Amino acid sequence: MKIAVVWKWWSGKSSISRLLTQYLLNNHHKVCAIDSDHNMDFTDLLWYDFISESPTFKWLYDELFQYLEESEQAKARDVIKKHLGHCKFFLDDMDDFSEKVLVRQSDSLEIGIVWLGAEDVISGGRCAHGISNPLKIYLTLLDEGSRDVVVDGVAGVDMINFWLYHACDYLITVVEPSRNSIKVAHQIKKLCEMSDVNYGFVVNKYQANDYAHQIYEEFGDKVIGSIAFDDGLFAYDYNKVAPTVKESIAHIYQEVNNYQWFSLVERVMKLESLKNL
Ligand SMILES: Nc1ncnc2c1ncn2[C@@H]1O[C@H](COP(=O)(O)OP(=O)(O)OP(=O)(O)O)[C@@H](O)[C@H]1O
Ligand SMILES: [Mg+2]
Repeated sequence: MKIAVVWKWWSGKSSISRLLTQYLLNNHHKVCAIDSDHNMDFTDLLWYDFISESPTFKWLYDELFQYLEESEQAKARDVIKKHLGHCKFFLDDMDDFSEKVLVRQSDSLEIGIVWLGAEDVISGGRCAHGISNPLKIYLTLLDEGSRDVVVDGVAGVDMINFWLYHACDYLITVVEPSRNSIKVAHQIKKLCEMSDVNYGFVVNKYQANDYAHQIYEEFGDKVIGSIAFDDGLFAYDYNKVAPTVKESIAHIYQEVNNYQWFSLVERVMKLESLKNL
């Protein structure tokens, strides 16, 4: 299953991506952790020391197109449409491109880094959205086999509009109990429902205030869990995470698993029909 964790700045996307990854590893799952954000917090939380020689989707942008035998000028959308339904990347019996782009941390954990960068985006020819194209293609044409893929998202709703996560089976959207967060939750709900994306909300840094109450009231069964504020998250050590938080993550994973999906082909066809309106 491919799961993306999305939401606004500082809401807890990387923390929840990391908790989910560690929960899965502790329960003998194999995980491919994808860090799609500029700040690479997920990479850091998984104890990978990024260096300039580290492989990234950004540095291997041209190689991905070569691997697919596509022109570098080809549009991501056209590449996706052409290959849709024929996986090109495999995590169990790993293909050459995946071997190159993923970093193996252990037998159970690979990390993929987009490396959107910052200063080079100012002077480079591609904007931060365009740099995410290889990941958009990769996720769509990826057969994850026996692994779970966890994608830590970029802050904001624009990458949802960009369809970076359309190939993910589920979007965990991390809402906080605050007025502003509830407003954006409505935007995300609308976007996901327009495009048949599977999604649910997780209330992070939960406190029993009126806003938390409002979230449950307004979003009903789309709220799949809550995570309390926990100082233990500041330590880079899963043993220090509160047992209640670990239980919440287990529950959230269960909810995601129980979801009745729109399939990838259904989602892409819906997006196509929206584009052609
Ligand atoms: N449930 C929680 N309890 C306590 N602290 C938390 C919790 N969730 C997140 N935090 C803290 O909040 C801060 C922001 O979390 P995190 O980096 O996961 O957010 P983010 O959404 O990934 O941010 P960014 O948009 O910058 O990538 C961090 O200091 C993190 O340790
Ligand atoms: Mg983050």
